[in-house]
This record gives sequence, structure tokens and C-alpha cells, in this order.
Amino acid sequence: MDRNRRRSRAAITVAAVGALVTGVVVSLATTANAATTLGASAAEKGRYFGTAVAAYKLSDSTYSTILNREFNMVTPENEMKWDATEPSQNSFSYGSADQIVARAQQQGMRVRGHALAWHSQQPGWVNNLSGTALRNAMLNHVTQVATYYKGKIYAWDVVNEAFADGSTGARRDSNLQRTGNDWIEAAFRAARAADPGAKLCYNDYNTDGQNAKSNAVYAMVQDFKSRGVPIDCVGFQSHFNPQSPVPSDYQANLQRFANLGVDVQITELDIEGSGTAQANNFRTVTQACLNVSRCTGITVWGIRDSDSWRASGTPLLFDGNGTKKAAYDAVLQALNGGNPTSPSPSNPSSPSPSNPSSPSPSQSNPNPGTGGCTATVSINQWQGGFVATVRVTAGSSGTNSWSVRLTLPSGATISNAWNADRSASSGAVTFTNVSYNGKINAGQFTEFGFQSSGTAGTLTPTCTAA
Ligand code: XIL
Repeated sequence: MDRNRRRSRAAITVAAVGALVTGVVVSLATTANAATTLGASAAEKGRYFGTAVAAYKLSDSTYSTILNREFNMVTPENEMKWDATEPSQNSFSYGSADQIVARAQQQGMRVRGHALAWHSQQPGWVNNLSGTALRNAMLNHVTQVATYYKGKIYAWDVVNEAFADGSTGARRDSNLQRTGNDWIEAAFRAARAADPGAKLCYNDYNTDGQNAKSNAVYAMVQDFKSRGVPIDCVGFQSHFNPQSPVPSDYQANLQRFANLGVDVQITELDIEGSGTAQANNFRTVTQACLNVSRCTGITVWGIRDSDSWRASGTPLLFDGNGTKKAAYDAVLQALNGGNPTSPSPSNPSSPSPSNPSSPSPSQSNPNPGTGGCTATVSINQWQGGFVATVRVTAGSSGTNSWSVRLTLPSGATISNAWNADRSASSGAVTFTNVSYNGKINAGQFTEFGFQSSGTAGTLTPTCTAA
């Protein structure tokens, strides 16, 4: 090595130490203000963090304490499936699902509906049907359930697991598939007509990396987009274990779907394992979502290891006692260091077929508040209703709490709000932060939202911070 090279390497080393020292200071500063729960941290990045919930566990206080503290999205684990909601034909039963929805609304959490049409967990009576009778029964189910929950669901898994595993890229053989290849788009159209405010997702497993199955789903989404079949999102279940590890192209796969113009969501995350190895896998998945601007959130498939459908693999973020695992720390740390989502419509991107002229989401100008925050609102309007997403950005001193006031036009009544409490459902409404999103660091933001009937027009929010 010649002298010049040696000298320049020494200079690099000094610079690197300098960077290291700066890095330490920066990371300490970040840690001091970092969000301390999964939901709060995800919300700072414009995302949600959810969990599957079982209605019968809501009375378990350890379970409920973690649920209320950590999560801002819930998916009923079994309670919205066909066998649970339509146990005999055209007779609907919503008791358990309603318990979960009510708890979510009480806590300002949103709900992912799971799942309207699926080959599994069907009620027995469906076995006696085929052809047109089965197609019509499926469409009736989609319409009835989506109508019943209209205004209360952030996103529906409209169709679950419709593609075969392996290298064929074919549809999965099922009673629903045998009603005709167009059953999937028919289900999506029925869901859009029933609840135009819900995002409509296709959800599957073994589609987490690029392979024959995910290629087939990709081609379907591309086809739906080109023909105007309503689809807003693709869910990646992400059930991993040593036989089915996190694929190395996980992020690239999320990104290629996002590039088709749909949101992507991690919908049923669990990763078997323990300790550092498991923590690293959870970190990789979390980071992948944060790196994809249209990855709108992550849902884990249960709270404690003992709540898991595969409990023996200890695949979740809390142990059986409800204690945080290394995997929890890794996820929270990744969330706290992640990039915000680029501002994108957080609501259905394709207009309702019943209202092809609905305007696309629009963003109003930032409106300086009377305190140290600003609020902007983006609206997704359809015939008869809208979803508003409000972004609260802290000024130079940050916030400990905030409120946003806006006046709804007459005829607009809020049915559902998330990530904020509201003073009223119509007219002049004040939204205040919930426990986990009052604190916003200088220049950072959080988002809350609401769904309303009527026409939004131009909403002018005023933000006040303390
Ligand atoms: C599982 C539930 O966790 C179990 O309680 C139930 O016995 C079977 O279904 N893919 C899905 C989920 O879409 O609905 C499944 O949930 C897990 C695999």
C-alpha cells in the first residue's frame, strides 16, 4: 500500500469515527422521543399496526390491555367468515363480529373485514349448492355482509386464497371456482356496490415473494386494473417458518404490486422461531413495509404466542404471559426508524362502479392553526358518502396533545372515526387525539380519519396544539 492511500484511509477512519459519534447522539435523541407502542409508531409513519382478535378473548384483561395499548387496527380472526356470519342460508348472525367492531370503535381502532368469499370455513349448507345457485348465494353473502358493516370497515378481504400453490399459476379448484372463472371479479363488484367506502383487497399466502402463484395474482390485479374491476389492495398473509422463510425478494414483491396502483398490506403476519433470529425476521418484514410507500400497514395474526393458530411455533410478538419478546422490540425499533409514507390516497383508489364520476381524492392546502400544528384533509368522495383522512403535522415545538376543528356541511353525518375522539357527528366537530397519538415531535405528523354520509365539499380544518 503506498503512502497516499494509507493517509487517505486514515482520513476516512477519522471521518467515520466522527460520523459514529454523531450517529450515537442522533440515535439517543431519537430514542428519547420515540413512540413506545406499535400503533403510535406506525401512525407516525402514516401506517397502522393491527392484530387478529378473537371475540371470546375480549374479556381476558391481559389480552385486552395489550390490545388497547398497542394496536390501532383489528381483524376478526374467525368471526366474519362465511360459517360464522351466515350459518344457514339467508339467515345472518353478527353477534361475535359485532363485539369486535364495537370494541374497535370504542378504542378508535379501525377494522379489516376478513373474509367475504373463501373456499374454507364455509357453512355446511353451501356444500349442497353449485352452479348458478352457488354463485348467487355467494353474491348474496358478499352483498348482505358488506352492507351490514357499511361504513365500519377500512378494508375487506373480498376474496381469500383463490390461487393454487405450486408452479402452475392456476386458480385453486374449489366450489366457488367451479361457478366460473369470473367469480372473483363478480365478488369485488358486489362488495364495491355494497360498501363503496371500504378498500377492497385480494388476500393470499405463498405470494410473499415472486413465484408462480404471486405472478398469477399479479396478472389478475393487472387485468382488473386495466378493465376497471374495482380492486384497491392486495394482502400478503406472511405466515413464515423455517420451511417457508421470509423471501429475500419480499420488499421487491410488495413494490411490484404497489406499482400496479394498489395498496399493499401485510395481513396475517406470524413468524415461527425465538430470540434474535425471530426478531431479525420481524425486523426485515417491518422494514420492507416501511420502504414501500403504498404498504399501508401490518397486522400480526394474534397477540400472545398462546393466542396463535400455531401456538407451538411461538410466532408472535408477546409470550404467553403477555410479555414483550425480542421480536416486539425489533418491530418497534424498525417502526421508529422508518420512513413516512409518501402522501397517497388512503382510501379506495378506483371509483365505485355505481358512480364512475366520483372525483379522485384531493388534498387541501395546509392551514396554519392557532397553536403549534397544522392540519390538512384529503377526501375520497363517492355517491352518498366520503372518507376524510386528516393529517396533523406538529410545528417547531412538537405537541403533547392536539385538536382539530372542522365544520361538516349539512347532510353529512359521521358514522365512524379512527385514531381520534370526536365531539359530535355533524355540524362543527372537534376531534381530539387519543392516548397514543397526542405526542408528535416537531415536524412529524400523525393521521386520523372518519367516514361520513353526504358530500364533503371543501373542509377547512383548524389545528390547535398543547
Ligand atoms: C385461521 C384462524 O387463525 C384459526 O383460528 C382457524 O381455526 C382457521 O383459520 N389464512 C387465513 C386465516 O386467511 O383466516 C386463517 O385463520 C389462517 C390462514
